[in-house]
Amino acid sequence: MLLDCIEKRFSVRKFLNKPIEQKKINILLEAARLAPSASNKQTWHFVVIKDKEKRKQLADICKGQKFVSEAPITIAVCNTNLDYIMTCGQKAPVIDGAIAAEHIVLQAVELGLGSCWIGAFYHDKMAELINLPQDYEIIGLLPIGYPAVEKGNRDLKSIEEVVSCDSF
Ligand SMILES: Cc1cc2nc3c(=O)[nH]c(=O)nc-3n(C[C@H](O)[C@H](O)[C@H](O)COP(=O)(O)O)c2cc1C
Repeated sequence: MLLDCIEKRFSVRKFLNKPIEQKKINILLEAARLAPSASNKQTWHFVVIKDKEKRKQLADICKGQKFVSEAPITIAVCNTNLDYIMTCGQKAPVIDGAIAAEHIVLQAVELGLGSCWIGAFYHDKMAELINLPQDYEIIGLLPIGYPAVEKGNRDLKSIEEVVSCDSF
């Protein structure tokens, strides 16, 4: 059941020194490609960072988060069409990118991998690292690898706190 993967997922910040098989990387990217997007625009682009020298620079770009450099790959989730605001007032590309990224995150769990969303990174430095075209933005980063830690406990709100019926 998908809920099993959802329950197993946690933010992995320590990785084994073990490469990820290309077959698994391809499955992660396929999971992203299949994601829904507003008006089916699919304006995303996923940059897989494998290069050792580039990976080394990620810790600094991510405000000293060393574990990002230790992951065998990091996927930069990018999107364009940035002025597409939906009727509801929200930026479609940001939401599209986030959904695709979470597809990757959950597929990673099923493949025995772990990842962590990274929002704390300097956009300008990251853009330079991956030669980002001017009309694109990076929505988030996903360092991915084989987990070297087990899931711990975390505080979660109860269903009653976060759900209501018919009226907020
Ligand atoms: C949009 C977003 C940005 C995040 N940025 C970071 C980050 O820069 N560094 C980090 O260590 N964790 C980051 N996280 C992970 C959260 O801290 C984590 O999801 C939260 O504490 C819940 O823990 P869990 O993922 O283990 O369930 C981010 C999560 C999200 C959704």
